[in-house]
Amino acid sequence: MSEVFVLNGPNLGRLGSREPDVYGAADFEALTALCRDTARRLGLHAEVRQTDDEAELISWLHEAADGRIPVVLNPAAFTHYSYAVRDAIAQRTAPLIEVHLSNPAAREEFRHNSVVAGVATGTIAGFGFLSYVLALQAIAELLAESEG
Ligand code: DQA
Repeated sequence: MSEVFVLNGPNLGRLGSREPDVYGAADFEALTALCRDTARRLGLHAEVRQTDDEAELISWLHEAADGRIPVVLNPAAFTHYSYAVRDAIAQRTAPLIEVHLSNPAAREEFRHNSVVAGVATGTIAGFGFLSYVLALQAIAELLAESEG
């Protein structure tokens, strides 16, 4: 079964209590369960991780690059300023989909720019947990295309 990493950056472990008006009432455990179930349905195995630490996130991106593992990535606030995360993504050897729960383009000015979008395969934003489901579907389609 093909593996996919679902990597999450800072503050996403606090879903449920964090700004529920923006991010919803469901917690990170619920997001993890949804990603695992969705992946299983698509014939994939999802390895779901979250960190508040930039170095740890970068080490996971290196692991994905070395293992040719596709990634669904919510870089959270790193999206907007981390050239180090961008440089790690640029080394990818498989599809990487940038996801966001909210629609950053409709929020504060500083969220309008993504420094990682230019090295991602594509971006899905604004659909809450559904953003992750859509990204996993995209990964499954891309893998099927490359295998077929
Ligand atoms: C986010 C959007 C980012 O601007 C923010 O810093 C986050 C979450 C989202 O999923 O909507 O932490 O990536």
